[in-house]
Order: sequence, then structure tokens, then C-alpha cells
Amino acid sequence: MLLFKKVEQLQKHLKTVRNDLRTIGFVPTMGALHEGHLSLIEAAANRCDFVVCSVFVNPAQFNDDNDLESYPRIPEKDIEALCKSSCNALFYPDVEEVYPKGWTSDAPTDFGYLTQTMEAIHRPGHFEGVAKVVKRLLDIVQPDELFMGQKDFQQCAIVTEMLRRLKMPVEVVCCDTIREKDGLAMSSRNLLLSDQERSKAPALFKSLLLAKDLLDRVSVPEIEQKALELQKLAGFQPEYFSIVDGHNLRPVTDPQQHNFIVACTAAKLGKVRLIDNLILRREF
Ligand code: PAF
Repeated sequence: MLLFKKVEQLQKHLKTVRNDLRTIGFVPTMGALHEGHLSLIEAAANRCDFVVCSVFVNPAQFNDDNDLESYPRIPEKDIEALCKSSCNALFYPDVEEVYPKGWTSDAPTDFGYLTQTMEAIHRPGHFEGVAKVVKRLLDIVQPDELFMGQKDFQQCAIVTEMLRRLKMPVEVVCCDTIREKDGLAMSSRNLLLSDQERSKAPALFKSLLLAKDLLDRVSVPEIEQKALELQKLAGFQPEYFSIVDGHNLRPVTDPQQHNFIVACTAAKLGKVRLIDNLILRREF
């Protein structure tokens, strides 16, 4: 695997890849890699000839300095895991390389309702930071396909919308969430859980499964209330549990009127904030 810290060197290499008519798959990450990230890399390798992964903890998407500071960073382990994966090139830039002095972002900041709900309410400025870095990284890498995890469902929706609006010739591939055996969605933040918190954490997925089980049997507000109760009983401090239309993230009131329904949730266990979601219905 090749390692690049500088934009210029990465781009020089990617030019040779493109000249050979090889397609490029891109997996942006913030490091502390787990099997979820590695599954994105394998998905990229299955569809593209050359896989680029970036590891960059993007300060612009943290609305809380403590959260940025405590975000797990394990560079040696990440590089080791990537060397064993199908990743061809790792882009591991410094902040100054991604956001050089004098550079200004041309990424959109307002995505209508997509940036007015759920994560956008609880993490103001977060998606502006995500759009800023994803646009910048895409401009650098210029991949054919972009691979993201469904665990960040709202992020996938916003990035897809950004590429559509900017008419960028990149396909977003949203890959399934990878879970631990007990159902907990893999996340870099799981590393921050104490043993006791880790044992409670699967309740987040259980609350989503409960919602799936109750859909079409009880009203949506009742489902949301029962899911929140389950989380609280397990020791979570819930932030939201929302049953939404998967196309536009608008709240679902009558499930019969929707063919794509997703339950999305965020909740804290002690200081660790976890998010997860589950597709409750998808009929196309
Ligand atoms: O999902 C993430 O890890 C980040 O939000 C991303 C897409 C790498 C941008 O920093």
C-alpha cells in the first residue's frame, strides 16, 4: 500500500492510475478503523480497480472541542489494518494540507430539510463540516465511486444530495452497517465505552428492532415512545428516535403512505454519543 501525506504527490500518482483507464474507489474515514471501514474498502475493491482511503479527523465537523480531542486516534493500528486490506493508497494529510491558508470552501452548506432534522439539530454545524471536507477530498481524489456506511444514514443522504446538486460525476455507494455479534453497530466511538457501558450498548439496536417489530401494529408516536423507554431502561440518555421517510428524512405519520421507512436514533451512554438506524421497510 502506498502512503501519501501531500495532495500533490497523491494526485500525481492518481493521474497515472487514470491514464491506465483504471477506475478509482474512495473511502473517506476519520481513522480508528474497524471492520465497518474495512468492509467499505472491500466493497470499493470489488467495484473499482484502485482503492484510495483517507484518514483525517476533520476539525470542521466537530461542534464540541472535547469531542474532537477525545476522538480515538490509532494511526499505527490503522496503517497495519489497511496494509492487510485491499486498499491501494492511503491519504493521511495534516490539517494544513486539507485546509491550506487562504483556501475557501465552495461546498454548499444548506441542504434544506436534510440539514434541519435529527443530527443537524443535535450537532449544529456538523454537516457543514462534513460537506466541506467531503467536497475538498473529492476534489483532491476525483474518484469514480465514493463508499460510505449506512450507519451515518443522514450523512449519506446529504452527500448524495451534494453530488447531485453540484453535478459531480461520482457515484455514492451506501454500504450496509456492520454489527458486532450482539448487534451494536461498529463505530470508532465504541472504543470510548467503558466495559459497563459496552455491555449496555446493544440496547440501541434493540430499540430499532422493536420499532421494526411494531411498525404497522401501533402508531408511530407510540413506537417512538416505546423505543425511547427501552433505551432509558438500559441506561441511555436518548437524544432522538425518529421514524422517517428514507428518501427525504421527513417524519412518517402513516407508514402505509411510504415505501422507504427508516428509524434513526442517537443516544448517550455516559459521555459517549452513539448513533444507529435501521431500515424498517424498503419496497421499490
Ligand atoms: O463518516 C465519517 O467518518 C466522516 O464524517 C467522513 C465522511 C470521513 C468525513 O470526515
